[in-house]
Amino acid sequence: MRQAGRYMAEYREIRARHSMLEMCSNPELAAEVTLQPIEHMEVDAAILFSDILLPLVPMGLQLEYVEGDGPVIDNPVRSVKDLERLRPVDVDESLGHVASAVKLVTDELGGRVPLIGFAGAPFTLASYAIEGGSSRNHVLTKRFMYEEPDAWHALLGKMSAVVVDQLTAQVHAGVSAVQLFDSWVGHVGPDDYTEFVLPHSRRVFERVATLGVPMIHFGVGTTGLLESMRDAGADVVGLDWRIPLDEGWRRLGPDTGVQGNLDPVTLFAPRDHIRKRVHDILAKADGQPGHIFNLGHGVLPETPVDNVKYVVDLVHEY
Ligand code: CP3
Repeated sequence: MRQAGRYMAEYREIRARHSMLEMCSNPELAAEVTLQPIEHMEVDAAILFSDILLPLVPMGLQLEYVEGDGPVIDNPVRSVKDLERLRPVDVDESLGHVASAVKLVTDELGGRVPLIGFAGAPFTLASYAIEGGSSRNHVLTKRFMYEEPDAWHALLGKMSAVVVDQLTAQVHAGVSAVQLFDSWVGHVGPDDYTEFVLPHSRRVFERVATLGVPMIHFGVGTTGLLESMRDAGADVVGLDWRIPLDEGWRRLGPDTGVQGNLDPVTLFAPRDHIRKRVHDILAKADGQPGHIFNLGHGVLPETPVDNVKYVVDLVHEY
């Protein structure tokens, strides 16, 4: 994951000519941008260019990506009435361009590296739908959860249904693995996770498991939630840099893989420091099967691209 290529000049050049939503809904552009890191550095997998928030649009939410502010929704979900007006989504009809992009990319890759598909997790999608954008404390989201628990579960049920359909369509179109992004779930305490989040993520993984591709469960700030996230049922759980990789893996147990966990800001450090941290992580993984080397979160836009390449090379050499 790279919240894309914004650190790559080749991405910024295309993005200067198209809006984010235009790029996401045009299969040729999405495919081209997906392939950029494969062509420019030897990463071991491609991640589809798309966005977790796309399904909110056919649900009836007015989504825009605003320069400097990120995603903004003009008509967020603030009441049971708002919830009732959310439309069910026919993924093939409204998001068919995503499957088309997957086909273009997998044709072009010809099996060189796998393509990872993805969707937002029900909680993180709901938090955007309710807050109307990014949020510091998720007050509106949690208030909705506490004050209207039935409506909350209905909202996450709607999100889960769309997510399952999105991931199913992506697998049918040819992705080799899927990743569920629960980026903001680290804001929730363990008891609230168990009551308000886990049943929905678990249902997504139960359904998607029948498709037979590996499933990765991503979160940030989730040191207090690792065991619960594992219980949601993915094959691999993401770790951020706030926990040593070996400690996180021990807590998850040997039957679950791990992804992580370099601090993205390490890529701004001098080379010696980058090398030390990359080697620390690989030493902690100790050659055990089931480790995907990655950052703990996305590549930041201003990251020096040569340092991204340097990390890829270090991992391969090691
Ligand atoms: O990273 C990739 O290129 C793969 C495609 C991808 C995007 N978004 C494209 C994107 C993926 C995997 C995502 C996931 C995503 N989107 C997440 C989960 C991962 C995470 O970062 O925690 C979340 C929370 C979103 C929602 C979202 N979309 C945000 C918060 C933003 C703004 C980010 C910012 O810093 O401004 C986006 C926009 C977005 N999604 C961009 C890209 C390439 C930037 C668009 C631009 O060029 O302006």
